[in-house]
Amino acid sequence: MTARLKILAINGSERDGNTADVLRHAAETAEQRGVDFEVVDLRNTWMERCGPCGDCNDRTIACELGDGVSGVVRKMIEADGIVFAAPVHGFGTASLMQTFIERAGVGYLRFDRPLSNKVAGIISVARRYSAGEVWAQLTVNALLNRMIVVGSGFPATVHALHRGDALKDDEGIKNVTRMIDRMVDMIQLLDEHRRLTGRDDLLPSGDVNERVGLALNEMTVSA
Ligand SMILES: Cc1cc2nc3c(=O)[nH]c(=O)nc-3n(C[C@H](O)[C@H](O)[C@H](O)COP(=O)(O)O)c2cc1C
Repeated sequence: MTARLKILAINGSERDGNTADVLRHAAETAEQRGVDFEVVDLRNTWMERCGPCGDCNDRTIACELGDGVSGVVRKMIEADGIVFAAPVHGFGTASLMQTFIERAGVGYLRFDRPLSNKVAGIISVARRYSAGEVWAQLTVNALLNRMIVVGSGFPATVHALHRGDALKDDEGIKNVTRMIDRMVDMIQLLDEHRRLTGRDDLLPSGDVNERVGLALNEMTVSA
Protein backbone atom coordinates (compact mmCIF):
# COMPACT_ATOMS: atom_id res chain seq x y z
CA MET A 1 0.00 0.00 0.00
CA THR A 2 1.37 3.44 -0.86
CA ALA A 3 1.78 6.02 1.93
CA ARG A 4 -0.79 8.78 2.11
CA LEU A 5 0.24 12.18 0.85
CA LYS A 6 0.77 14.77 3.54
CA ILE A 7 0.80 18.51 4.12
CA LEU A 8 2.59 19.86 7.18
CA ALA A 9 1.56 23.29 8.43
CA ILE A 10 3.81 25.45 10.59
CA ASN A 11 1.74 27.73 12.83
CA GLY A 12 3.70 30.77 14.00
CA SER A 13 1.08 32.14 16.40
CA GLU A 14 1.53 32.37 20.16
CA ARG A 15 -2.06 31.33 20.78
CA ASP A 16 -4.78 28.94 19.75
CA GLY A 17 -6.42 31.79 17.85
CA ASN A 18 -7.21 32.97 14.36
CA THR A 19 -4.24 31.35 12.62
CA ALA A 20 -5.13 28.04 14.28
CA ASP A 21 -8.76 28.42 13.11
CA VAL A 22 -7.61 29.09 9.55
CA LEU A 23 -5.40 25.99 9.68
CA ARG A 24 -8.30 23.88 10.97
CA HIS A 25 -10.24 25.02 7.91
CA ALA A 26 -7.24 24.22 5.69
CA ALA A 27 -7.05 20.75 7.28
CA GLU A 28 -10.70 20.06 6.45
CA THR A 29 -10.09 21.10 2.84
CA ALA A 30 -7.02 18.87 2.47
CA GLU A 31 -8.57 15.89 4.23
CA GLN A 32 -11.67 16.07 2.04
CA ARG A 33 -9.26 15.59 -0.86
CA GLY A 34 -7.64 12.56 0.82
CA VAL A 35 -4.44 14.31 1.88
CA ASP A 36 -3.28 14.21 5.53
CA PHE A 37 -2.75 17.54 7.25
CA GLU A 38 -0.67 17.96 10.39
CA VAL A 39 -0.06 21.22 12.25
CA VAL A 40 3.14 21.98 14.14
CA ASP A 41 2.41 24.74 16.66
CA LEU A 42 5.64 26.64 17.20
CA ARG A 43 4.27 27.86 20.53
CA ASN A 44 4.53 24.26 21.75
CA THR A 45 7.94 23.63 20.20
CA TRP A 46 11.17 23.96 22.16
CA MET A 47 12.91 26.62 20.10
CA GLU A 48 15.90 28.69 21.17
CA ARG A 49 16.70 31.99 19.54
CA CYS A 50 19.87 32.26 17.48
CA GLY A 51 22.80 32.33 19.87
CA PRO A 52 25.72 34.73 19.91
CA CYS A 53 28.10 32.52 17.85
CA GLY A 54 27.34 34.17 14.48
CA ASP A 55 29.02 31.23 12.72
CA CYS A 56 26.12 30.48 10.39
CA ASN A 57 27.54 31.87 7.20
CA ASP A 58 30.78 29.93 7.53
CA ARG A 59 29.62 26.66 9.02
CA THR A 60 29.37 23.57 6.88
CA ILE A 61 27.53 21.58 9.50
CA ALA A 62 24.09 22.00 11.03
CA CYS A 63 23.35 24.29 13.96
CA GLU A 64 24.51 22.96 17.30
CA LEU A 65 21.62 24.32 19.37
CA GLY A 66 20.01 21.05 20.36
CA ASP A 67 16.38 22.14 20.60
CA GLY A 68 13.22 21.05 18.80
CA VAL A 69 13.92 22.81 15.48
CA SER A 70 15.73 19.85 13.93
CA GLY A 71 12.68 17.64 14.62
CA VAL A 72 10.42 20.11 12.79
CA VAL A 73 12.91 20.20 9.91
CA ARG A 74 12.73 16.41 9.73
CA LYS A 75 8.93 16.56 9.60
CA MET A 76 9.13 19.09 6.76
CA ILE A 77 11.49 16.83 4.84
CA GLU A 78 9.04 13.93 5.23
CA ALA A 79 6.02 15.96 4.05
CA ASP A 80 4.86 16.45 0.47
CA GLY A 81 3.70 20.01 1.00
CA ILE A 82 4.27 22.69 3.61
CA VAL A 83 2.05 25.59 4.69
CA PHE A 84 3.73 28.49 6.48
CA ALA A 85 1.10 30.41 8.47
CA ALA A 86 1.79 33.39 10.70
CA PRO A 87 0.02 36.34 12.24
CA VAL A 88 1.26 39.88 11.68
CA HIS A 89 2.81 41.52 14.73
CA GLY A 90 4.20 45.07 14.70
CA PHE A 91 3.91 45.26 10.89
CA GLY A 92 6.08 42.16 10.53
CA THR A 93 6.10 38.40 10.95
CA ALA A 94 5.20 37.28 14.49
CA SER A 95 8.38 36.46 16.36
CA LEU A 96 7.88 32.68 16.66
CA MET A 97 7.79 32.31 12.87
CA GLN A 98 10.63 34.79 12.42
CA THR A 99 12.78 32.79 14.84
CA PHE A 100 11.85 29.54 13.12
CA ILE A 101 12.80 30.90 9.69
CA GLU A 102 16.16 32.04 11.00
CA ARG A 103 16.93 28.86 12.93
CA ALA A 104 15.66 26.34 10.37
CA GLY A 105 16.73 28.29 7.30
CA VAL A 106 20.25 29.20 8.25
CA GLY A 107 20.87 26.33 10.67
CA TYR A 108 19.69 23.42 8.53
CA LEU A 109 18.06 24.14 5.17
CA ARG A 110 20.68 26.20 3.38
CA PHE A 111 23.11 23.34 2.90
CA ASP A 112 21.37 20.86 0.63
CA ARG A 113 18.01 22.61 0.23
CA PRO A 114 16.11 19.45 1.25
CA LEU A 115 12.73 21.13 0.67
CA SER A 116 13.43 21.52 -3.07
CA ASN A 117 10.32 20.80 -5.17
CA LYS A 118 8.03 20.36 -2.20
CA VAL A 119 4.80 22.26 -2.65
CA ALA A 120 4.49 25.40 -0.52
CA GLY A 121 1.53 27.55 0.50
CA ILE A 122 1.66 30.79 2.47
CA ILE A 123 -0.96 32.27 4.82
CA SER A 124 -0.75 35.51 6.79
CA VAL A 125 -3.34 36.62 9.35
CA ALA A 126 -3.69 40.25 10.40
CA ARG A 127 -6.18 42.77 11.58
CA ARG A 128 -5.23 44.54 8.34
CA TYR A 129 -1.80 46.20 8.21
CA SER A 130 1.22 44.56 6.55
CA ALA A 131 -0.63 41.32 5.79
CA GLY A 132 0.83 41.52 2.27
CA GLU A 133 4.36 42.23 3.46
CA VAL A 134 4.39 39.21 5.77
CA TRP A 135 2.88 37.02 3.05
CA ALA A 136 5.64 38.21 0.68
CA GLN A 137 8.40 37.59 3.23
CA LEU A 138 7.26 34.02 3.83
CA THR A 139 6.90 33.50 0.07
CA VAL A 140 10.49 34.51 -0.71
CA ASN A 141 11.69 32.16 2.04
CA ALA A 142 9.81 29.30 0.38
CA LEU A 143 11.29 30.30 -2.98
CA LEU A 144 14.77 30.45 -1.43
CA ASN A 145 14.26 26.83 -0.44
CA ARG A 146 13.39 26.01 -4.06
CA MET A 147 9.88 25.01 -3.19
CA ILE A 148 7.05 25.09 -5.71
CA VAL A 149 4.93 27.94 -4.38
CA VAL A 150 1.28 27.50 -5.20
CA GLY A 151 -1.01 30.49 -5.09
CA SER A 152 -4.73 30.95 -4.85
CA GLY A 153 -4.97 33.83 -7.28
CA PHE A 154 -5.09 36.55 -4.66
CA PRO A 155 -2.69 35.97 -1.75
CA ALA A 156 -4.11 33.95 1.14
CA THR A 157 -4.16 36.85 3.59
CA VAL A 158 -6.88 36.62 6.22
CA HIS A 159 -8.16 39.70 8.03
CA ALA A 160 -9.08 39.10 11.66
CA LEU A 161 -8.65 40.85 14.98
CA HIS A 162 -10.53 39.00 17.73
CA ARG A 163 -10.69 35.25 18.15
CA GLY A 164 -13.28 33.90 15.73
CA ASP A 165 -12.98 36.76 13.24
CA ALA A 166 -10.87 34.77 10.79
CA LEU A 167 -13.65 32.43 9.76
CA LYS A 168 -15.88 35.48 9.08
CA ASP A 169 -13.46 36.83 6.44
CA ASP A 170 -15.19 35.16 3.50
CA GLU A 171 -12.75 36.32 0.85
CA GLY A 172 -9.69 35.41 2.92
CA ILE A 173 -11.06 31.94 3.69
CA LYS A 174 -12.00 31.43 0.04
CA ASN A 175 -8.40 32.21 -0.93
CA VAL A 176 -7.10 29.72 1.67
CA THR A 177 -9.47 27.02 0.36
CA ARG A 178 -8.40 27.60 -3.22
CA MET A 179 -4.73 27.61 -2.29
CA ILE A 180 -5.02 24.30 -0.41
CA ASP A 181 -7.00 22.77 -3.29
CA ARG A 182 -4.30 23.84 -5.73
CA MET A 183 -1.57 22.53 -3.41
CA VAL A 184 -3.32 19.16 -3.38
CA ASP A 185 -3.58 19.23 -7.18
CA MET A 186 0.15 19.89 -7.50
CA ILE A 187 1.14 17.35 -4.84
CA GLN A 188 -0.95 14.66 -6.58
CA LEU A 189 0.51 15.58 -9.97
CA LEU A 190 4.07 15.28 -8.65
CA ASP A 191 3.20 12.01 -6.92
CA GLU A 192 1.76 10.60 -10.15
CA HIS A 193 4.94 11.61 -11.96
CA ARG A 194 7.00 9.91 -9.25
CA ARG A 195 5.02 6.68 -9.54
CA LEU A 196 5.02 6.67 -13.36
CA THR A 197 8.74 7.30 -13.69
CA GLY A 198 9.84 5.42 -10.57
CA ARG A 199 12.11 8.38 -9.85
CA ASP A 200 12.34 10.33 -6.64
CA ASP A 201 14.43 13.18 -8.01
CA LEU A 202 11.50 15.23 -9.23
CA LEU A 203 12.27 17.95 -11.72
CA PRO A 204 16.03 17.51 -11.47
CA SER A 205 17.53 20.84 -12.41
CA GLY A 206 21.10 19.65 -12.18
CA ASP A 207 22.22 22.81 -10.43
CA VAL A 208 24.40 22.80 -7.38
CA ASN A 209 23.91 24.53 -4.12
CA GLU A 210 25.44 27.93 -3.60
CA ARG A 211 26.84 26.70 -0.30
CA VAL A 212 29.33 24.05 0.63
CA GLY A 213 27.18 20.95 0.95
CA LEU A 214 26.17 19.04 4.01
CA ALA A 215 24.92 15.60 3.10
CA LEU A 216 21.47 15.05 4.57
CA ASN A 217 22.49 11.75 6.06
CA GLU A 218 25.16 13.59 8.03
CA MET A 219 22.60 15.95 9.49
CA THR A 220 22.03 15.45 13.17
CA VAL A 221 18.30 15.53 13.60
CA SER A 222 16.65 14.62 16.84
CA ALA A 223 13.38 12.68 16.70
C1 LIG B 1 1.61 42.05 19.55
C2 LIG B 1 0.62 42.16 18.41
C3 LIG B 1 0.96 42.97 17.33
C4 LIG B 1 0.07 43.10 16.27
N1 LIG B 1 0.43 43.84 15.18
C5 LIG B 1 -0.40 43.92 14.11
C6 LIG B 1 0.00 44.65 12.93
O1 LIG B 1 1.08 45.21 12.82
N2 LIG B 1 -0.90 44.68 11.89
C7 LIG B 1 -2.12 44.10 11.95
O2 LIG B 1 -2.89 44.22 11.02
N3 LIG B 1 -2.49 43.37 13.03
C8 LIG B 1 -1.67 43.27 14.11
N4 LIG B 1 -2.04 42.53 15.22
C9 LIG B 1 -3.32 41.79 15.18
C10 LIG B 1 -3.13 40.31 14.85
O3 LIG B 1 -2.42 40.13 13.65
C11 LIG B 1 -4.51 39.65 14.73
O4 LIG B 1 -5.20 39.80 15.95
C12 LIG B 1 -4.44 38.19 14.36
O5 LIG B 1 -5.75 37.74 14.12
C13 LIG B 1 -3.79 37.36 15.43
O6 LIG B 1 -3.74 36.01 15.03
P1 LIG B 1 -3.67 34.82 16.10
O7 LIG B 1 -4.96 34.83 16.86
O8 LIG B 1 -3.49 33.60 15.31
O9 LIG B 1 -2.47 35.10 16.94
C14 LIG B 1 -1.18 42.41 16.30
C15 LIG B 1 -1.50 41.60 17.40
C16 LIG B 1 -0.59 41.49 18.45
C17 LIG B 1 -0.95 40.59 19.62
